[in-house]
Amino acid sequence: MIQKWSFSPYIDTEAVVLRIPAEDSPLPFFEHTDGKYICHMKDTTRVYGLGEAIRGINKRGWQYISFCSDDPVHTEEKTSLYGAHNFILVDSGRDDRFLAFFDYPAKITFDIGYSESDLITVNPEEDRLDLYIVTGGSLREIVREFRSLIGRAYLPPFFAFGYGQSRWGYVSEDDIKTVFLRHKEAGIPIDMVYLDIDYMEDFQDFTVSRERFPDLKNLSGYMRSNGVHLVPIIDAAVKVREGYSVYDEGKEKGYFCKDADGEDFLTAVWPGLSVLPDFLNADARRWFGEQYKTLTDMGIDGFWNDMNEPALFYSDKRLKEAFLKLKEFEGKNLGIFDFFSLRDVLGKLSNSIDDYRAFYHNTPSGKLRHDRVHNLYGYQMTRSASDALKSIRGGKRTLLFSRASYIGAHRYGGIWTGDNHAWWSHILQSMKQMPSLNMCGFLYSGSDIGGFGGNCTRDLLIRWLSFAVFTPLMRNHSAVGTRHQEAFAFGETEIFRHIITLRYRLIPYLYSEFMKAALTDDMYFRPLSFDYEDDPIAGEVEDQLMVGESLMIAPVYTQNAGGRVVYLPEEMTQVRMSGGEISTEELNKGHHYISVPLGDVVFFIKKGYAIPLCDPAENTQSIDYATLRLIGSSDRYTLYQDDGESLDVTLDSVKTIKKSNELSF
Ligand code: GLC
Repeated sequence: MIQKWSFSPYIDTEAVVLRIPAEDSPLPFFEHTDGKYICHMKDTTRVYGLGEAIRGINKRGWQYISFCSDDPVHTEEKTSLYGAHNFILVDSGRDDRFLAFFDYPAKITFDIGYSESDLITVNPEEDRLDLYIVTGGSLREIVREFRSLIGRAYLPPFFAFGYGQSRWGYVSEDDIKTVFLRHKEAGIPIDMVYLDIDYMEDFQDFTVSRERFPDLKNLSGYMRSNGVHLVPIIDAAVKVREGYSVYDEGKEKGYFCKDADGEDFLTAVWPGLSVLPDFLNADARRWFGEQYKTLTDMGIDGFWNDMNEPALFYSDKRLKEAFLKLKEFEGKNLGIFDFFSLRDVLGKLSNSIDDYRAFYHNTPSGKLRHDRVHNLYGYQMTRSASDALKSIRGGKRTLLFSRASYIGAHRYGGIWTGDNHAWWSHILQSMKQMPSLNMCGFLYSGSDIGGFGGNCTRDLLIRWLSFAVFTPLMRNHSAVGTRHQEAFAFGETEIFRHIITLRYRLIPYLYSEFMKAALTDDMYFRPLSFDYEDDPIAGEVEDQLMVGESLMIAPVYTQNAGGRVVYLPEEMTQVRMSGGEISTEELNKGHHYISVPLGDVVFFIKKGYAIPLCDPAENTQSIDYATLRLIGSSDRYTLYQDDGESLDVTLDSVKTIKKSNELSF
């Protein structure tokens, strides 16, 4: 059951697709006092949700702030990342559980047993929101019902399930070709090479550097003829430069966010002085979306949208103030406090709340100050691209994912989890983010494999890839200035070839399960507790996940470990890929130490199920479904398959594969 309580929101966020009348009855589960929502927890209560937020699958014991933030250091003490996914699923047992979605686009704090261990306190900056409560059924059913409220998940094209290589710092056509050729030489499958900001002319959206990428159309044609898609980045802000058509047009039409005096709000990101398209204004949104055509005309069919929290390096006004302030320190003997203040003058310039309070949107609900709708900005940028691309590309699916997001954005694109690090703890962090993101519809997601910041090592990349074999978005990405971490960057390439090849052998299963989950509002990644509700051990496992209906993974995420303890909530078939060879073994319910030498990938199939594997392929285009063979303890698998590009698809295209095709070893 879904119920709604409405407390005078400023704006319809368009997070939900079902129109539900608001209740007059008192709010259940929460005490609603002083603009706060307070709920008591039992000792055994688990709290799921909050999408991308850091920390555990069980969110209990920390406080989280939904305020889309460009923060490249994802340590445990952080409270906000790029997404704002304001829902919690409070589980105190089969008959006492509910999901609450606080549809509120400004800053909102979820204190989940942080200040007081048995209390949840949800505190929006202003008490003006819609609150939805979903009850009834299993954890999975509650999530499904919630998902029916927020609408069907974005469907990526089939090729988006291939492997992608990205790096900030591929500065020329040659760099891009080299990435492809090195994979090809090493026999490592690849489907996508990403273009970071280096492809643009002066970091201007929808331009291409003539000097470094003299013929992008030709380059994309060459790559496509080799089965590889180029995927350029698009940033939210637009460079201020007269003569640059996107700037000129947007300015003339009044499509940029305005300051209090009605002038374009001047901020800065990569290109220096910039303006922010007003994605909350339908006309501006449409206009920005149309710009993607410049690149689709060059053969591009995938994009990643970035810096759309929006990230602000500084605003023009505050930078000027900062320079004046700096002068005050000149010639002074700076003691501790003065010195710290001096440091703060520049250190606190970026992403400042004062700047977020200094510009306005022209929305269907009138003029609204940015901080009141902050969390919608990235969402509406994704929507801008998605709506336009649907018509530009004649109803074909486009690969599209974003950094910032709000619930609702999941209907238009996927997300990646932003600037993580080459840290072992970030493999585990990513594993915990995936099921929570799935709960609110972000099925097409993944993290920068190998870590974005910091220097990756060969073993870290191997272990990370071994997990990412199962994430829908499988992209290796890193920051300029870090050690190269491509699958060919560590000398020997054999192990990388085996792991990435395994991904391609699994794609028919991964795609089939992804599409089934998307089309039935289900989860592709689930915590074990969602499948084994009555198993107290499964309820506490946070480093294993269910993938699709019948597969379980238990990745190694510790350096120098030769294996790990895995909990099997029931009898399962262990599948091991070692040196490209696949073998199976039946294992009993319970704890097992599983040896996983570097380069082996081990996963498990539930008893009574089978999954299909195809022959190795060099890209998604060459995957041959005729080679599918079943593996596991059943004689059939229900396969979903389609043309991989139509938007208008249903579950009708499922078919059962029978054992006659069984894999033989
Ligand atoms: C941001 C993105 C990162 C990208 C960089 C340069 O930090 O999160 O993925 O590489 O900008 O565009």
